[in-house]
Amino acid sequence: MSAELYHALGGETGIRRIVEAFYRRVAEDPILKPIFPEDLTETARKQFLFLTQFFGGPALYSAEFGAPMLRARHLRFPISPRRARRWLELMREAFAEAGIDPATTELAFLRLTKTAMHMVNIDDGEEEDPDAPRRRPRLDP
Ligand code: HEM
Repeated sequence: MSAELYHALGGETGIRRIVEAFYRRVAEDPILKPIFPEDLTETARKQFLFLTQFFGGPALYSAEFGAPMLRARHLRFPISPRRARRWLELMREAFAEAGIDPATTELAFLRLTKTAMHMVNIDDGEEEDPDAPRRRPRLDP
């Protein structure tokens, strides 16, 4: 994709602000906190690398970790539709806190929403079952 969105988000500075605001919220969130590590430093670093490339900046994530294969990397974690919606809500708050303008936010969320829904690997009722994601076959291509 072009670097237009990356620049509209404020490049490195903007993405750092978003990531910082997002994980500060995850650390306090009753729905998401249980599946994240206690120390979010490395998680936030990876997300900064990933979002930089996802929004059209330099391919920092792939340079260090190879192909993103995001859905596969999320299969260790039980991700229900409820958790996906919460992830998107907190990310929206993070965009607002980072001062991203509404048009840029909407453009970014077209992509983020699709990706978040793609990570869902359990139903809402299976959140307490650590093995649920592995029992669920991948239904989409
Ligand atoms: C749908 C709701 C989502 C939940 C509940 C979720 C949860 C998680 C969790 C628990 C981790 C592991 C953290 C760690 O061990 O450090 C993780 C890693 C990650 N997530 Fe998500 N995630 C979601 C959606 C997304 C989306 C939409 C993106 C990208 C736009 C994303 C990008 C990443 C990346 C890049 C990593 C690091 C992967 C790695 O290299 O290990 N996640 N996520």
